[in-house]
Amino acid sequence: MRVPSLSPTQATPAAVQVPLLDLPAQYASIRDAVMPAVLAVIERQQFIMGPEVAELESAIATLSRVSHAIGCASGTDALLLPLMALDLQPGDEVITPAFTFFATAGTVHNTGGTPVFVDIERASFNLAPDAVEAAITPRTRAIIAVHLYGQMAAMERLLALGAKHGIPVIEDAAQSIGARRQMEGAWRLAGETGWVGTLSFFPTKNLGAWGDGGMILTQDATLAERLRRLRTHGGAKQYHHDEVGTNSRLDTLQAALLLAKLPFLAGWSAARRRNAEGYSARFRGHSAVVPPAVDPANEHIFHQYTIRAPRRDELREHLKAHGIGSAVYYPLPLHLQPCFAHLGYRRGSLPETEAAMGEVLSLPVYPELTEAQQERVIQTISAFYG
Ligand SMILES: Cc1ncc(COP(=O)(O)O)c(C=O)c1O
Repeated sequence: MRVPSLSPTQATPAAVQVPLLDLPAQYASIRDAVMPAVLAVIERQQFIMGPEVAELESAIATLSRVSHAIGCASGTDALLLPLMALDLQPGDEVITPAFTFFATAGTVHNTGGTPVFVDIERASFNLAPDAVEAAITPRTRAIIAVHLYGQMAAMERLLALGAKHGIPVIEDAAQSIGARRQMEGAWRLAGETGWVGTLSFFPTKNLGAWGDGGMILTQDATLAERLRRLRTHGGAKQYHHDEVGTNSRLDTLQAALLLAKLPFLAGWSAARRRNAEGYSARFRGHSAVVPPAVDPANEHIFHQYTIRAPRRDELREHLKAHGIGSAVYYPLPLHLQPCFAHLGYRRGSLPETEAAMGEVLSLPVYPELTEAQQERVIQTISAFYG
C-alpha cells in the first residue's frame, strides 16, 4: 500500500537541504542564553572543578531522580569508572547487547572483564530479557542495559533478574537522558533504578556539550564517594592515593554550557517526539518502511528516529543524492567486530541484532527540523519505493 499524498510531483524544491542534525541551528537559537555562562568561566579562569560542575551534578541528579551524580570526562568514562569499581577479575563476565556503540563493551574489556553479547528485542532494539537470563552464569558480574535511540529497556525485568542472581544492572543511558518508563505504576527515569546510570554529553546527544563530557548517576552514597575518588586518580585528598584511578573530570566550561542548555532539554525532547510522530503517522501502513515501535510503557526521547527499510543502503544513497542526511547505527554489531573475534561469535549468533544491522536507518529528527524539511524527507523516501 502506498502512503497517500506522497507523490513525487508534490515534492518541495530540491534546494531544501536536510542534515541529519543541525547543531548550528541549535546554537543560533540559544546563543544569547548560553554565551554569558561560558564567558563567565573564561573570565574567572577556573577551568578544573569550578562551581558549575557541582551545580550541574545537582541539577541532573534532580532531573534523573537520583541521590548522586558524578561528572566525568565522557560517556565512555561514565561506564569505565563503575566497571573499575567492580574490580573485575580475569574470566568475569558482563552481559551487554552487541547492538550498541562500541564503548558499552570496550569498557568491559578495558576493566579486565569479558563481554557476553546477547540479542535484542525486535520491536524496541533493546536487550531481550529472556536472552539475558539464558546468558547468566556463576561468572556474571554485571548486566549493562543500553537504552538505545532514546527509549528505556525493560528495566523491571532486568532488575528482577539482577536481584534474583545478585548481579548489578548498569543503565547505559548515553542516548536517553530524561527518558522514562512506567514501572509498577510509576514513572521511573533512565538511570534512576539501576546500580548506576551513565550519561554522555557528546555534542550530538540530546543534551550535548561543546566537546566531550559524561555523568554517572547512582542512589548509592558509598559508591558515589568511590567514583568521585576514581575520577581523580583514586585520591580523596590531593597527592594521597587510596587506589589507582584515572583523570576523568568534567570540564568547568562544559558544565557551565550544559547548565545553561538544561532548561531547553524538555522542549527539545518534546519537539523530537512531535517530529517522530510526524514521520510515523505517514509511515504507518507503508508497504516498505517500518517506523520505530514505542513500547507503551515508555516515554521515548527520540535521540534517533530509526526506521527499518528494505534496500537500506540504496535508500541511503538516494537520500544523500537529494541532500538529506541519514545514518546507520550500527553497521557492524560488536560481536562481529575484529577486536572481539577471540570471543568466538559468528554470523548467526545473534539473529535479531544482525537483522537490525542490515535494515536500520536513522532519519533527521532534531528539534529544529522544519515541516518543509520533514515533508521533503518523507516524499523522497516515498519516491524511492515508488
Ligand atoms: C550507547 C552509548 N554508550 C556509550 C557512549 C559513549 O559516550 P561518549 O562518546 O561520550 O564517550 C555512547 C556515545 O556515543 C553511546 O551512544
